[in-house]
Amino acid sequence: MAFPPRFLTGDSKTFGGFTSTSRWPTLVQNMIDDLDSELSTKIKGTNVYLQGQIILKQLLELKQEIKQDKKLRSFTEEEIRIAQVPLSFNEYLSEFNDATWQHAEWLFTEVYLYRRVNVYFRMQSLWYNFDIFNKVKQHAFHSSYYGVIELAIKYQSLETELENISDPTILKTLFEEFIEISLWGNATDLSLLTNVTLEDIKSLQGEKTRADSRAKILVNDSENAWELLFSKTSNKQEVIRVDFVLDNSGFELYADLMLASFLLKSKLATKCIFHCKDIPYMVSDVMLKDFDILVKDLQDRKFFPIADEHKQHADTLDFFAKAVTQFVTDGSLEFVENSFWTCAMDYTYIDPSEIKYNGDKVHADLLNSDLVIFKGDLNYRKLTGDRTWKRTTPWPEAIGSLASSGVTTLSLRTCKADVQVALDEGVDEKLSALWEKDHPNQGSWWCCSGKYAVICYCDGKQ
Ligand code: F6P
Ligand code: MG
Repeated sequence: MAFPPRFLTGDSKTFGGFTSTSRWPTLVQNMIDDLDSELSTKIKGTNVYLQGQIILKQLLELKQEIKQDKKLRSFTEEEIRIAQVPLSFNEYLSEFNDATWQHAEWLFTEVYLYRRVNVYFRMQSLWYNFDIFNKVKQHAFHSSYYGVIELAIKYQSLETELENISDPTILKTLFEEFIEISLWGNATDLSLLTNVTLEDIKSLQGEKTRADSRAKILVNDSENAWELLFSKTSNKQEVIRVDFVLDNSGFELYADLMLASFLLKSKLATKCIFHCKDIPYMVSDVMLKDFDILVKDLQDRKFFPIADEHKQHADTLDFFAKAVTQFVTDGSLEFVENSFWTCAMDYTYIDPSEIKYNGDKVHADLLNSDLVIFKGDLNYRKLTGDRTWKRTTPWPEAIGSLASSGVTTLSLRTCKADVQVALDEGVDEKLSALWEKDHPNQGSWWCCSGKYAVICYCDGKQ
């Protein structure tokens, strides 16, 4: 079957087109500002300062390259060696050798952008491991105070009961709620919220927001995931493994930890594996170190100060921090990283026949999982190949070979890009007309706003 083409940055009137011309220069400018402020803490003339200045200059040039629609250049041999750039980038660029920033596949170009930035840092020895997004990640998590406390209270109040819930209806209701917590955790996206305020963040988090947003979950296959895990636990399957291909750190990671903790405590899972990115990526994506930072933040009363009249909240945050640390210590929660997740390949490459880019190894690993949860928008774009599908295309068709790969998948996505599938007839038309009223000429962008969501399941046996 022929696949439709992928979205291009040059597709006029798409969110991808707008992203490449407007959002990327802003994102790079934010990196420049943050590096500038980091450099102001260094002593002028030192090696670290001088290397930082080189990166600063390169970022300024990169911003110009994007604005002037320059050609997407290959990585040099030195960059490949020192910065460990996967070969797939240059292979792609030799095939599409006339690609420019505004005339190329959106998915590839966005992934390439973050790789280019990473190469600048890795080429300077004293900045090799620097996470340019750390500051903004920390700022957003700090601003997530209310959502963080609310969830911690919820978890603490449920924790002891979770082990002994015998009524499947109650357990199912809680399962659906924790799935929604993890789903909407994806709405706090720093690449979209380039000028984030505390009020913005508050309005994206919290129980009331989730309840109000329920009608905005346009496809909801969470029941399939429930049935799968509940049958495994009822049949006393010894190991029930759930994988999370993570998205953003801070509040979303915290929400994912809530879901994982719920699954582990309620015995719907016995092991959760969290897959992280190996480089700073898409502004807020989780790297291995971000878990340690999150746990530290939860226990740091300077980071999350607690007023005297709410003293018990400090215990509540400590309680959750200890709970997740304990899961890591006893091995029921594991964090891993793999460069496959930061290459530009879509997820049809998760296949035994794909031996070049590690897709076969990733496939073999995920076959051992009972359920693989793909978090967020970028993972959804990679699942669907970021292709120009009709928006009513059935989910198994859109994910191609993954639908018959033997891997059971669940995508939890708040919609932030043009690609959209699995909708019932008429839904796209209705939402486009509604969005058009407040956003003239942009009706089809309703699914780029982060206000709607989808939960899509596939048993891998189609
Ligand atoms: O659509 C906005 C965007 O920046 C996309 O470029 C990217 O797919 C996505 O957001 C990142 O979102 P998420 O963190 O949910 O993957
Ligand atoms: Mg992300």
